[in-house]
Amino acid sequence: MRPSKIQILKKLDAIENLPSLPSIVFEVNRMLKDSDVSVEEISQTIKKDQSMVPRILKLVNSAFFGLKSKISSLDRAIIILGYNTVRNALVAVSVIDAFNNKKALQGFDIKDFWIHSISVAVTGKYLAARIGSSDPEDVFTGGLLHDIGRIVLYQFFPDLFKQVWNALKEQNISFFEAEQKEINITHARIGAHLAKKWQLPDNLVDIISHHHKVEKSQFDKDMVMIIHMADLFVHGFMTDPNPDFDASLSTADAQWVIENKISPVSEWLPEIKDDIQEACQIFIQ
Ligand SMILES: [Fe+2]
Ligand SMILES: [Fe+2]
Repeated sequence: MRPSKIQILKKLDAIENLPSLPSIVFEVNRMLKDSDVSVEEISQTIKKDQSMVPRILKLVNSAFFGLKSKISSLDRAIIILGYNTVRNALVAVSVIDAFNNKKALQGFDIKDFWIHSISVAVTGKYLAARIGSSDPEDVFTGGLLHDIGRIVLYQFFPDLFKQVWNALKEQNISFFEAEQKEINITHARIGAHLAKKWQLPDNLVDIISHHHKVEKSQFDKDMVMIIHMADLFVHGFMTDPNPDFDASLSTADAQWVIENKISPVSEWLPEIKDDIQEACQIFIQ
């Protein structure tokens, strides 16, 4: 008999070697809930993990952030870019680290996974800035994390993953559709469960949880919609060098945004392709 959703989530809770984030991520997230926190407090906390500082600085100094002059200290980065951007950089670097154990992921193309996630992150960030409804940095981190449940499914529930994979190949359906048909859970649900365990902010949990079903979003529907569109878009242009957004794939709300806010795609596609390449170089070592 197929395991139920509750059984799967219980098993997930019992896994001892589930990827975790460094404790400083939890500390920073907790501290940022308090509006009185100082730059120094955040900076001191991140500095407890010395390996993190140069990586955050490398990220914020990349062309991707488009700063005119170089930032050489974490305190300056927080002052210039703000708490949220530095927190997002910290989460991004930590999550990629947590899932880079190639041995545990034999047979899963982790590089392709991150290329997809980074592409959605960069596209989402661009769309957020263009549409003007959500914080582009939050959208970027949401894009990086949106499919995280897929890795967990592969690593800890290989039989279920295989079942989904076979159905996807045989029936020519999407990964999400195959999950809905074949197993009692989706990567969106698993990813959200993990994100809650990691105590990530609510908007990120919402993106992970609802990126395939935007109408169910409970926190920031605009942001979830942007990731949903970016995901569709990336699936489109990864397989087609000159894609046009297939609006029929998407919801009515998404269609409206596509037609009124982000067409024609050919105007902005070359720019984000360069950004995707740059971001891949920064994140995938
Ligand atoms: Fe997904
Ligand atoms: Fe995706």
